[in-house]
Amino acid sequence: MAFNFTPLISQEQFHITSIPGDKSISHRAIIIASLADNKSQFTGFLLSEDCLNTLQIFQQLGVSISINKDTKLVTIQGVGLTGLQAPDSPLDVGNSGTGIRLITGILAMQQFESSISGDHSIQKRPMKRIVEPLREMGAIIAGNEADDTYPPLTISPAQHLNPISYLLPMASAQVKSCLLFAGLFLKGETTITQPAICRDHTEIMLTAYQANLTTNHNHIVITGSTPLHNPFSKPITIPADFSSASFFIVLGLIHPTITITLSKIGINPTRSKLLDVLIAMGADITLSNQTMEIEPYADITVRSSSLTNITVDESLIPIIIDEIPILAVAGMFASGTMTISGAQELRYKESDRIKQIVHLVQAFQGHIQEHDDGFILTGGLAPTTPIIETAFDHRIAMSAIIASLASGCPITLDTIDCIKTSFPNFFDIIDGLG
Ligand code: S3P
Repeated sequence: MAFNFTPLISQEQFHITSIPGDKSISHRAIIIASLADNKSQFTGFLLSEDCLNTLQIFQQLGVSISINKDTKLVTIQGVGLTGLQAPDSPLDVGNSGTGIRLITGILAMQQFESSISGDHSIQKRPMKRIVEPLREMGAIIAGNEADDTYPPLTISPAQHLNPISYLLPMASAQVKSCLLFAGLFLKGETTITQPAICRDHTEIMLTAYQANLTTNHNHIVITGSTPLHNPFSKPITIPADFSSASFFIVLGLIHPTITITLSKIGINPTRSKLLDVLIAMGADITLSNQTMEIEPYADITVRSSSLTNITVDESLIPIIIDEIPILAVAGMFASGTMTISGAQELRYKESDRIKQIVHLVQAFQGHIQEHDDGFILTGGLAPTTPIIETAFDHRIAMSAIIASLASGCPITLDTIDCIKTSFPNFFDIIDGLG
């Protein structure tokens, strides 16, 4: 059903304290705590469809996990590396690429059969990138009938599993994490080399849980069969999701009159480089109350700024990959030319994000040129009432709504349901803006 959005912001100073928990860390919290030999508790767990699907999958695999209705504290009673049980029905990740890629690494090492899939979009997302190296480790995985690597994936117990040394063909944290999780179950060293730095939440949490893992520049080595153990007696804080915060960071910069402070936002350097890109564009951004728990977080204040577009360094692309749709919105409101290249991976996300960014910018009458691996954007926003096709992609839908709020142009979106996959209270925050 189409959704009409009429933008109106009535105040000038906002303090947003309810950006939800980090999606990447929430998935890893469920996975790693389930494999630990003791209990873990988490605050700030993201209660969105994607992460709740991961939670339910580990319940199907025999792990006791509960969520306190009032405090939202998540308690996981880990079963250890050998304690998972065969599920009695197929596992469903919904829309989550992170869910399917990370969990398949674990299923591939179990001595029971399982099957894992997700929604229509998941069934079209490439799994060859994990299936190939897992097969190299000896895993037995069959893809759907038409193509051997697309979901549903059926995983059978394998007799001979071995660690490998693997150079990732792309800088993907999902592939890296899948193989590190597989390596947890294998005697000997699994070595992963990443072509460029990408998010490191798996390495951070595995290290906190006493895994035998070392990182040396782009090489990560995990020695398996070492038990995972939660050393913390108190609940572990999952910081607010930087990628979700980025919608309101950009809104504060491009809206002509407002100042926004966002509380306790994760600022892991492999996630928050959008801030550097925006500062290079002239953004007024300050960080305060920096705190370090298992991951660093801080309050971020953004003020209305006059932005100038830049050419984004290709080496930053893997660590700003999820923020490129909202960066393009910032580019629509900036002067000069924004060039994004080396971002082919955008075509394999919840939608073909290069195509959807081009559609979004053009719907607002902006000027954009599509390239195989990116785009060149020269702003040129004109008053209009665009109709936005989201391709059921949460980040495209939220980017369009931010562009509408900042420009004052009402919009129509084909759906907003996809936003629930990562940001269930997005509209509550928008309502709070007046
Ligand atoms: C994620 C890794 C990234 C990112 C995704 C979450 C993760 O994907 O786009 O939203 O949690 O590991 P790739 O590994 O495919 O780059």
